[in-house]
Amino acid sequence: MTFSRIAGTGGYLPERVMTNEEFESLVETSDEWIRERTGIKRRHVAAEDETTSDMALAAARRAIDAAGVTTSDVDLIVLATTTPDKVFPSSACLVQRQLDIHDCPAFDVHAACSGFIYALDIADRFIRTGGAACALVIGAETYSRIIDWNDRGTCVLFGDGAGAIVLQASDEPGIYSAHSHADGQFAELLHVPQGISTGYDVVRAEAAFIQMKGNEVFRKAVGTLGAIARETIAGNGIEKKDINWLVPHQANLRIIKAAAKKLELPMERVVVTVDEHANTSSASIPLALDVAVRDGRIKRGELLLFEAFGAGFTWGSALVRY
Ligand code: ACO
Repeated sequence: MTFSRIAGTGGYLPERVMTNEEFESLVETSDEWIRERTGIKRRHVAAEDETTSDMALAAARRAIDAAGVTTSDVDLIVLATTTPDKVFPSSACLVQRQLDIHDCPAFDVHAACSGFIYALDIADRFIRTGGAACALVIGAETYSRIIDWNDRGTCVLFGDGAGAIVLQASDEPGIYSAHSHADGQFAELLHVPQGISTGYDVVRAEAAFIQMKGNEVFRKAVGTLGAIARETIAGNGIEKKDINWLVPHQANLRIIKAAAKKLELPMERVVVTVDEHANTSSASIPLALDVAVRDGRIKRGELLLFEAFGAGFTWGSALVRY
């Protein structure tokens, strides 16, 4: 039987760091409010000419190096993003071109903050069914382009960046299970109202930016993440105490703490990057994973739980032997 396993990780953050204090001159807010309500201290913001595919490429190269493979080994590219460079071609194709890879399937996955879980789920299924043997799975976002910098309820929450993994065929798991879910009835609680088919119009600019009912999203996120953790644990016949690390989507430290509490995991076993990166949407899990792998916290053989919740609503999880 063929499984998939993570062979290497990579991350990329833009050079420019924006602190909470900088927002104090833009909107009515304070460093104290942002830290207390979200846990965020700073975030990285892409340069004017820096795109999602640029960041994805940098993260992908690092993951390829860490995995000890070459670009010619890569036979699938799945890139999770809601902020692609262009309407088409996909950002995955742009990364493929920069890596000088030809022929393999390359496509974007659009599932907001759960995008990386969806991309991992898809790539795992490709590998388990023999459709690929070495996949690049990337999450990359440039949310600074869809932020309303006058809306204090959302502008302080997001950051830019990219994370990537190389997922390889293996005799041993690897990915034990991945779970992807959605419920579109909540679409208007967290959305960018304008898109291509509704007639993108910069004059109606406020509709081109993120709009969120933060409180309602918060409540739904906490309840749903608890349920998906239970589903993943029960589905694999393990116990909470078997999990070595929770690597959650990084939206809000209070949401992360609530998820850890439900799992009875001390915060020392939870990878937190929201303080430094803010919410980088589909990039947040692979970025957090890369940070904890590179600083030596996450070691080979340990059991990891990924979980995410985002616009759609979408949500998902994965149980992974690193
Ligand atoms: N600075 C100061 N005050 C603020 C700010 C700010 N940056 N933002 C909001 N406030 C004010 C509000 O106006 C409100 O004031 P009022 O009481 O006078 O009306 C007050 O603070 C409380 O607002 P709430 O929205 O109730 O604050 P809350 O504690 O819920 O925190 C937050 C807001 C941080 C947005 C939280 O609700 C949250 O994290 N929600 C979930 C976000 C999330 O998980 N998103 C999913 C992923 S994102 C994706 O998929 C794209």
